[in-house]
Amino acid sequence: MKKHIFITGGAGFIGSHVVRLFVDKYADYQIVNLDALTYAGNLENLKDVAEKPNYIFEKVDITDYEKVDFLFKKYQPCGVIHLAAESHVDRSITDPFVFIRTNVLGTCNLLHCAKELWKGDFDGKRFYHVSTDEVYGALENDGTFFTEETKYQPHSPYSASKAGSDHFVRAYHDTYGLPIVISNCSNNYGSHHFPEKLIPLAINNIKLKRSIPIYGKGENVRDWLFVDDHAAVIDVIFHNGKNGDTYNIGGNNEWTNIDLIRLLCKIMDKKLGRTEGESEKLITFVTDRAGHDLRYAINSQKLQKELGWKPSLQFEEGLEKTVDWYLANEKWVENVTSGEYQKYYKKMYS
Ligand code: NAD
Ligand code: DAU
Repeated sequence: MKKHIFITGGAGFIGSHVVRLFVDKYADYQIVNLDALTYAGNLENLKDVAEKPNYIFEKVDITDYEKVDFLFKKYQPCGVIHLAAESHVDRSITDPFVFIRTNVLGTCNLLHCAKELWKGDFDGKRFYHVSTDEVYGALENDGTFFTEETKYQPHSPYSASKAGSDHFVRAYHDTYGLPIVISNCSNNYGSHHFPEKLIPLAINNIKLKRSIPIYGKGENVRDWLFVDDHAAVIDVIFHNGKNGDTYNIGGNNEWTNIDLIRLLCKIMDKKLGRTEGESEKLITFVTDRAGHDLRYAINSQKLQKELGWKPSLQFEEGLEKTVDWYLANEKWVENVTSGEYQKYYKKMYS
């Protein structure tokens, strides 16, 4: 009997990279992708694995307890890698409730179904919750880092909902003994990233010669990690992480938004045959995000020491790969930026 592993949110940005890695690497696992296919989920992201015998897709909203419970009973998974979430901070500011429902209630549904299925027989079982560094709040520009001991201080409805979900995961471990592991990762970039987030939005706008909206003065700092590096370390933590533990994941790669966008403009001028400096003219400073966290930066020493992991890719190389993917996949961008997304974009930027 193959082991069934649930991966939630597998049709999204990071989830699709995790599903692909697990389906390709582990023929002895049956990977079941649970995804509601919201605006951010797209089965086209997984067309290369869709027909593989060890891959199954189930369309399910994780806030629907009965449906989730039905799927746990049907497949009897021994592992869950939970990525499904509402993930965009700006959307959480305009509509917090969908974040509360999916990120908190949805996570609780999965935890409870796992507990009910495993009934105290936790041998070989694991619930892996994929979380974010945003739960720690914001750092000053003072060279400090988020560690696993940093106190939770979320500021946006998104980060508060993720913090809430982290607390419930730990509560199920402490109260019922559920075997869990949590990781808190910094900003990801790479292919299949929905173009409402800074890097893919900027790539698309540069290509179309649209303005590039930079919040405030562009001085906020993020620590960027290539998405395939994140997927690879999720595999490591899922298999080797210590029961009940938390691991911080980061790229050790801090950039102010404005410096990052200038670098991207330079790369794209070269790729598009434009004169150097042409795309930079598209940069437009706009009203800042409410409650905008100044700086995120991760100390991933624990992961490096205990599990021997470090990021594999240099940022410029990763950015170039990402730009190449977007330029080669214009149809994907067109598809995901039509319909509902257009309404959102017009509301945000008109
Ligand atoms: P994403 O928005 O690209 O994808 C989210 C996926 O979840 C989509 O496929 C969507 O359809 C699905 N989903 C949303 N609501 C659902 C529901 N109610 N039921 C079932 N499926 C639902 O997100 P992402 O950027 O790939 O992030 C994945 C996870 O990683 C999230 O938990 C996020 O908090 C975390 N994370 C993201 C980053 C990042 O930089 N993107 C960094 C650290 C952690
Ligand atoms: O740190 C991990 C988090 O990174 C994840 O948990 C989130 O799911 C993910 O969306 C990301 O959050 P950010 O808010 O950091 O990502 P975003 O791409 O939205 O913004 C990156 C920075 O760029 C941030 O400082 C806000 C700024 N920004 C963003 C957009 C969309 C702009 O200046 N202009 C923009 O148009």
